[in-house]
Amino acid sequence: MCGILGAVIHDGDNDLKSILLPGLRAVEYRGYDSAGIAVMNGDGISVSKKAGKLSILEDSLGESPITGSVGLGHTRWATHGAPSDENAHPHWDYQHRIILVHNGIIENYSEIKDELLSKGVTFKSETDTEVAVNLIATYYDGDLPTAVRLAGKRFRGSFSMCVMAADQPRLMVGIRNEVPLLVGHGDNATYLASDITAFLAYTRDVTYLEDGEMAVLTDNGTHYYDLATGHEIEKHVERVEWNIEQAQKGGYDTFMMKEIHEQPNVVRHLLERHLPSANEPVQMPQLDELTKENDFRLVSLLGCGTAFHACKVGKYVLEGLAKIPCRVMYAHEALYHQAPLSSATVTVAVSQSGETADTLGAVKVQKAAGSKIISICNVVGSSLTRLSDQTLYTLAGPEISVASTKAFTCQLTMIYLVALWIAEKFGKEDPAELRRLKEELLAVPDKMSAILQSEKQIEHLARVYRQVRHFYYLGRGISYPVAMEGALKLKEISYVHAEGYAGGEMKHGAIAMIEPGFPSCILAPKSPLLEKMVANMEEILSRNGEVMVITNAPDRFSKYDVHVFPFPDCPQVFSPLLMSLPLQIFAFYSAKLRGRDIDQPRNLAKSVVVE
Ligand code: M6R
Repeated sequence: MCGILGAVIHDGDNDLKSILLPGLRAVEYRGYDSAGIAVMNGDGISVSKKAGKLSILEDSLGESPITGSVGLGHTRWATHGAPSDENAHPHWDYQHRIILVHNGIIENYSEIKDELLSKGVTFKSETDTEVAVNLIATYYDGDLPTAVRLAGKRFRGSFSMCVMAADQPRLMVGIRNEVPLLVGHGDNATYLASDITAFLAYTRDVTYLEDGEMAVLTDNGTHYYDLATGHEIEKHVERVEWNIEQAQKGGYDTFMMKEIHEQPNVVRHLLERHLPSANEPVQMPQLDELTKENDFRLVSLLGCGTAFHACKVGKYVLEGLAKIPCRVMYAHEALYHQAPLSSATVTVAVSQSGETADTLGAVKVQKAAGSKIISICNVVGSSLTRLSDQTLYTLAGPEISVASTKAFTCQLTMIYLVALWIAEKFGKEDPAELRRLKEELLAVPDKMSAILQSEKQIEHLARVYRQVRHFYYLGRGISYPVAMEGALKLKEISYVHAEGYAGGEMKHGAIAMIEPGFPSCILAPKSPLLEKMVANMEEILSRNGEVMVITNAPDRFSKYDVHVFPFPDCPQVFSPLLMSLPLQIFAFYSAKLRGRDIDQPRNLAKSVVVE
């Protein structure tokens, strides 16, 4: 859950500060409780590191360039050791021969530390990283790749590292196990980073390291090795589609608002790829191998956080439209649960980053049990896509804000497309009804745009509730996971306590919280369950609770003293795509009015690459 970046400049010294700091800014979403850089030049390696956000490091470094030929940087989300200057990366070994940055966890660090202590090694920080760098140093006799490889074979856990040696002015070594590390091939420099966005300003040519691989960056090119055997391996270069504009704020104050506003376009683009018109079949060549209905006897949906909510919506969609039984589990629960699986189970793993450790772990378990793995993922070449038999890319472009928005609606869109594809292929739905559903789905992006036009109305609602400390979100059926997602959005960026409940569950306990002024958001799309939601609302109002309603049946609520946000009409099944937008905007303004750091909420990081 840290961002790392290394750079080896091929045409002499350069201002590495001007490369490392903007690169770290691009991966700061991965962790932001301390930051540091190390730059090598003729005078040795200069290190600067500070607790707090990258801006604190930037301020401390001032305007002057930091020139060098090789440099690395880090932005941290603390695992071992509190956020402090001392615990910030990069870390030296105790004799200042080797320096490195690290993302992940070395699980066996305390046993290695005991061994090193017995050899007289001393430590300044509480981090597993300082143990790692000292182990590398014990193997170092002038051959950095070999020292990194020998130490790397002993590390247990998830890690990627960039390593430099003080006496090797044009060399950097990177290793990867279970957390991402990519090589970027620029015109006059080579980069190592945990995310493409760190070097996207310079190159879109990328080589993805696999688990157990090492990259050695020199002036004469980059070589790759297998960590276990030490044998050199061939790797190829891929060109990524993303561009630097997508990874910038584009005139918005926050990535979150930019990404909210991107939704009509990214959803439209995704639909165009798979459903050019309502008269044509859904195109899903990635699923062509699944030709028999029996291939789908059970779908096991896995994800965490927002992706889990997409899975929960997916159950209603796949069971409703494609008539396929589905099981949904948090990936971290599925990881330790021996659920019966077979080759007729299709595991659908949903993840924006494709690097969430819990999701990767659960996928490995289900794969080992014989399940076919299909991932719905945003990041091309991520670990999840490499574990999967097939990947359905959500094509949302880089999502930088920690709070997931466009990734969620693109995950939902992909699930609708899969359900329609199955329904069509196996004749699960009447052709005329299928055509109508396709028309309705294709109409969603314009309806999303219409909702975004009403942003001010939602900002007003956030003002109405700017003092509250709790919020319930209630939905039934397919709206229940949307309620959960609305609550997650609010709590993660505004720190208001919020819970998403199934409306029918209120009377079983949660209603005890309702007292005068306690606010609830009622999700009430037109559906056979609409009247049940009206009943929920009345129960709250009769206890003097406050109610805000998101509905496409606004007339039904006109006689009540409630705040109503109307959204465009659509079939109930697609309502999650539309209801999500006002919930995201409401969370955004609730956080803004409370002065929160919207893109980088406290205690969180974008990719949770540790269990
Ligand atoms: O990259 P992933 O989709 O696997 O991430 C899963 C969750 O960590 C993520 O959705 C998280 O809950 C978001 N911060 C929610 O906005």
